[in-house]
Amino acid sequence: MFTNFDQMLNDAYKDHSAIGSFNWYHFETLKGIIEAGQALSRPVIASFGAKYLTNMDLDTAAVLTKNLAEKSDQPVCLHLDHCEDKDVIVRAIRAGFGSVMYDGSKLPFEENVKNTKDICDIAHACGVSVEAELGSLAAGAQSHEGSADDREVYTDPSLAAEFVRDSGVDALAVSIGTVHGMYKGTPNIRVDILKDINAAVGGPLVLHGGSGTPEDKILACIANGITKINVNTEISEYVMAHTKEMLAAKSPHLSVLALNQKDWVKEVVSKYITLFMNK
Ligand code: 13P
Repeated sequence: MFTNFDQMLNDAYKDHSAIGSFNWYHFETLKGIIEAGQALSRPVIASFGAKYLTNMDLDTAAVLTKNLAEKSDQPVCLHLDHCEDKDVIVRAIRAGFGSVMYDGSKLPFEENVKNTKDICDIAHACGVSVEAELGSLAAGAQSHEGSADDREVYTDPSLAAEFVRDSGVDALAVSIGTVHGMYKGTPNIRVDILKDINAAVGGPLVLHGGSGTPEDKILACIANGITKINVNTEISEYVMAHTKEMLAAKSPHLSVLALNQKDWVKEVVSKYITLFMNK
């Protein structure tokens, strides 16, 4: 079932669970994510980063996801992750994406609000959900999305409600100490800041940088309004570690390796979906 993320995030907000948003780059990552949602009877967000447009174009990503989603009885949302380019966002909406993330986090507050509102006006008219970010994340180790000069700026709880109200955004990504990539030291997740943001916003919040975040911190975040959690690096790390192991033992046919990679994606995604259910 192909959908946007509104219903799934609002349901998750009410029952204190979260929906996994998993990055994908090729057929095996996408198929592993959708199969994991199907096996665990949970909605999933298949998150296609603007960074990965060299791996696949928007139209192909949409056709592929719609086709696989129609064969699953669970809701599947195709999401455009981290995009600063309004033209690419409009093209994703036209291609049929269910949700888009406009990333104006590096811009001054007023400009971020204005640009996010412009995107919301277009997206909402097409039934597409919108995520935006206030504050920004640092990059940890092995991050493919982040870069060394990414600066950690915590989300200001006193601005969060104004941002959501004035932009009309459906889900707000917050910065509370998670990083893109694996943590270099002990994670310092500021649940205290999140509590204040949640009290001010009272609606779906998004946690980027899920990889390697301690489980107790993830559960504390879910208890305080986080309803969408992004995972990228750990999927790649897990699949690559198993790939190296397999290749050290034998030299399989590429088709066999691909099937195994899909299953390894499914394993790591299933681990996170189960945790995010918060049961
Ligand atoms: P990780 O790579 O740390 O899991 O972060 C993923 C992410 O936030 C995608 O936007």
